[in-house]
Amino acid sequence: MTEPAARPRVLVNFASSLDGKINPAPGHRAGRFMMSRHREDFRRMVALRGRADAILIGAANLRADDPDLAIPADERAARRGGGQREPLRIVVTSVGAGIAPEMKIFDPARGGPAIVVHTARMPPEARARLAGRAELVELGATTVAMGDLLAWVAGRGVGILLCEGGGDLCAQLFAARAVDEIYLTIAPRILGGARAPTMVDGAGFEPDQIPDGRLASVEQLGDELFLHYELTWPA
Ligand SMILES: NC(=O)c1ccc[n+]([C@@H]2O[C@H](COP(=O)([O-])OP(=O)(O)OC[C@H]3O[C@@H](n4cnc5c(N)ncnc54)[C@H](OP(=O)(O)O)[C@@H]3O)[C@@H](O)[C@H]2O)c1
Repeated sequence: MTEPAARPRVLVNFASSLDGKINPAPGHRAGRFMMSRHREDFRRMVALRGRADAILIGAANLRADDPDLAIPADERAARRGGGQREPLRIVVTSVGAGIAPEMKIFDPARGGPAIVVHTARMPPEARARLAGRAELVELGATTVAMGDLLAWVAGRGVGILLCEGGGDLCAQLFAARAVDEIYLTIAPRILGGARAPTMVDGAGFEPDQIPDGRLASVEQLGDELFLHYELTWPA
């Protein structure tokens, strides 16, 4: 019998402004915000989801944007008709604050099984609130270690994990040297703001721990660029 992989292949997908921001600075966003002006960015995002066994987001992304993490509607119908799995939809949180059972990620009509990965600090009321809508997985005392999270998803048969952000969660995946591919849409806008989130926030990396990207493809649609990089990590 072959051992399960220690971690899945990890892809990240973001849309960024020209100045590297993934959302307006706190207090500068009015309602819903779409980085890309093209439907193409959305089409590519949901197509990528269709390649993944699981999709992972941070709780701040969920609270800000309430994404459904759904695959294309025609593919969902085909998979359901054929009894095939849809990607797991996973959110990671410490205590579940601000995560409501009405959020789209928990709607079984929109996508695959929903999972809340949380710490031992999540209070009983949050567990009770979400229990009927998602599988609750406790990993870690005060924070979920990325190594444990990746090992857990690998154990669930996830070969490809797609992270859709945000920058805090993504920084932890980079710090764990656990990112293999980047899909990045560059939208020709300048958002500004030192506190606006970027694709990789966190504390930053040591000079000898910075991965190198190889440009696998670049496509242009109007004024937007669709970049795909494969990463290699220093030994
Ligand atoms: N343009 C794009 O492509 C794009 C894509 C995604 C997101 N975004 C934007 O990015 C922003 C959100 O990004 P962000 O960097 O602020 O936050 P984030 O990475 O989405 O989420 C951070 C939160 O996730 C939970 N979390 C992360 N790591 C954890 C760990 N190891 N253990 C336990 N919980 C953990 C914590 O939630 P709790 O606070 O619940 O403990 C933490 O506060 C939003 O503004 C969103 O619009 C943009």
